[in-house]
Amino acid sequence: MDFNKICVLGLGYIGLPTASTFASHGIHVIGVDVNPQVVSTLQNGDLHIYEPGLRTLVQAALRSGNLEIASQPEPADAFIIAVPTPFLPDKRADMSFVVSAAESIVPHLRPANLVILESTSPPRTTIDRIAPILEQSGLTAGQDFYLAYSPERVLPGQILRELIENARVIGGIDPASAEIGRDLYQIFVQGEILLTDATTAEMIKLMENTYRDVNIAIANEFSRLAVRFGVDVWKAIELANRHPRVNILRPGPGVGGHCISVDPWFLVEAAPDLTPLIRTTRQVNDSQPEFVVASLAKALGGLAGKRIAVLGLAYKPDVDDLRESPAIETAHLLENAGASVVAFEPNKPNAEIPGLKLASNLADAVEEADALLLAVSHTPLRSLDPSVISQITPARVVFDAVNGWTQERWQAAGFHFFRLGAG
Ligand SMILES: NC(=O)c1ccc[n+]([C@@H]2O[C@H](COP(=O)([O-])OP(=O)(O)OC[C@H]3O[C@@H](n4cnc5c(N)ncnc54)[C@H](O)[C@@H]3O)[C@@H](O)[C@H]2O)c1
Repeated sequence: MDFNKICVLGLGYIGLPTASTFASHGIHVIGVDVNPQVVSTLQNGDLHIYEPGLRTLVQAALRSGNLEIASQPEPADAFIIAVPTPFLPDKRADMSFVVSAAESIVPHLRPANLVILESTSPPRTTIDRIAPILEQSGLTAGQDFYLAYSPERVLPGQILRELIENARVIGGIDPASAEIGRDLYQIFVQGEILLTDATTAEMIKLMENTYRDVNIAIANEFSRLAVRFGVDVWKAIELANRHPRVNILRPGPGVGGHCISVDPWFLVEAAPDLTPLIRTTRQVNDSQPEFVVASLAKALGGLAGKRIAVLGLAYKPDVDDLRESPAIETAHLLENAGASVVAFEPNKPNAEIPGLKLASNLADAVEEADALLLAVSHTPLRSLDPSVISQITPARVVFDAVNGWTQERWQAAGFHFFRLGAG
């Protein structure tokens, strides 16, 4: 099937790269967002999000006329839904954005159109929730129009390359929908395109992220056991991983971001009776900041009145994304325990976080500290020179929650050194 015009709903980290990549391959793309600020920013040739290379790509797409930004969908050959699927306070999936995006397509849906859902969604969403909404148009899914689910697996920081190179799964509500989905994505995808059914495709995405979550949880639990038994978990993991079939991940202060810490709950919600491991995994990873705080309290002989510089706040190394970050949770818990925290995030030095005092540079963060906590393994933090740091802080205790620093170097510079999970 030929695609002359497509409509991408949701212009965030997934939708905007997708829309502009299609546009750069000669397709006429209408990029739709309900947030008027996003629409006006993009219409002015500016960007509301940061992703390496994206600004150049979007601006070229806009200049070429192939990418148009709008606040409403319009008739097109294909519609791609890439809107958020966060969770509600009780951890249930918030599908309201997906539902309203699907509803907004209804008046524009025509026979032989293709609709693709990319948003991470609970199993059976495409069949049980999206198809009935789209059928309000009077057309029947699988008979009059094609409908598929295709999960997005890109890594923030490398989205533009991975969008093109990663293997892509396309799950149709029927085989024809998957085939037509392949016609669409092969416009730019160079990785393998793997066809399946819609519910399998939804499960694949959730299984991938849950698998990561479970494996990080076991590493975190090992870090707690190591302390109990006077073992250095990092050395133990290194030696265990010499086993040809073992690959234990790294412990740390927890799991954050808007994917791995969210998506497993979609499976728990969909089948609570079948997911004790996944639920426990979430609880283990969510409680890891408490373990960091307890370990730091032990190292400092209590937290009340202690001044602690928390270095790094993002949810993982070398990004600026603060969503669901365990480093932020750790900083809040330290405050709650009576410590006085000054935090510093090198990738977002001017961030504001309610309830936390933030410094806009490293020197301000450490100048009055009793202890330094390395909470995120950002490259510039990992490569700090302890002999330089010892000149700008009165702190003589460092706690490394991510195994980012070399113990001997910090000790040689006069610091008492503690590491998460090290005996
Ligand atoms: N960001 C990632 O790395 C990543 C990776 C894999 C999967 N995902 C999944 O992709 C989906 C989108 O994530 P994101 O990071 O791009 O989200 P985002 O928050 O960056 O962007 C979503 C955009 O959708 C817009 N929107 C909301 N409702 C809309 C509607 N009804 N019509 C049109 N636009 C609407 C919002 O205003 C926002 O600009 C989510 O389900 C997410 O879990 C994200």
